[in-house]
Amino acid sequence: MTRPLRCLSCRFPLDPRRVVPLGLVIVLALLSGPVPAALADRESDARETGRLLAVLLDCGRVAIGQNQDLINDPDKGDKGFTPEVFAQQTIALFKERTGHDLTNLSAAQVPAMAQPLLARLLEESKKTVATYQTVINMKGMKYKGLIPATFGTETGNRFQAWSGVYLKQTAPESLVRNPRNKPDAFEIASMEKMEQPTFPRDGEQVVSETVEEGKSLRLLLPLFYGKACLSCHGSPKGERDITGYPKEGAQEGRLGGAISVKLPLP
Ligand code: HEC
Repeated sequence: MTRPLRCLSCRFPLDPRRVVPLGLVIVLALLSGPVPAALADRESDARETGRLLAVLLDCGRVAIGQNQDLINDPDKGDKGFTPEVFAQQTIALFKERTGHDLTNLSAAQVPAMAQPLLARLLEESKKTVATYQTVINMKGMKYKGLIPATFGTETGNRFQAWSGVYLKQTAPESLVRNPRNKPDAFEIASMEKMEQPTFPRDGEQVVSETVEEGKSLRLLLPLFYGKACLSCHGSPKGERDITGYPKEGAQEGRLGGAISVKLPLP
């Protein structure tokens, strides 16, 4: 007498004719790609890494914005806004927004892949401020070309050249100033979600999606207009701001754009 075949976990008697196809299904599932749990880990690590990179680039933007009056002061020579002073402010802003200490990344609860990338992004951010030292310390000149957007573009470009991680600013098509920042389809769709009143305004929430058959992750961090933005992006609509662009007539709290990241899954 042959003993009935039973399921290894529930002891339910199995029909041998069905066990083979089931085994085949399991083998095929294993061959077809990583197990879902591992995939989920990789995806959540990449998502958190991208989110932290976007927040760090924005902290640099905010630090520049907070020093805009000082940078633009035509009566003052040496501004004392050195790369180190800028870095201290950026590190403090990042700590406030994420809880992570950039001066002690190995102890911070961030994904392993994020650590060298965050360190390098801070270095590239300082380099941008370093390249503007001569011009920002000039007397008799108001607009020096260093504003949050140019900081973001230049830092993002250099960081991307080093890391291969795509990092840029974009804005809805109706607002975008620099044609190079024009949004693509994914960015347009993500910003439409962010403009919904139900989209959370705090907690640094992002919109993300895996692309290229799961090999990369794309992510957007929203930038909402605060009071400091309105001297250039606010009212009266059409009037030139200090940089020479016409103002958009934007209101505080509205979506001004986003930081867009694309990085390979580890
Ligand atoms: C001093 C004026 C000024 C201030 C203040 C300012 N911006 Fe801008 N912003 C600009 C200029 C000029 C550009 C285009 C830069 C370029 O040519 O790349 C720009 C570009 C941008 C972009 C990139 C997309 C695009 O239009 O090319 C975003 C997003 C943006 N600003 C959002 C903001 C937000 C949010 C704030 C406040 C936190 C802010 N800006 C503060 C002048 C300003």
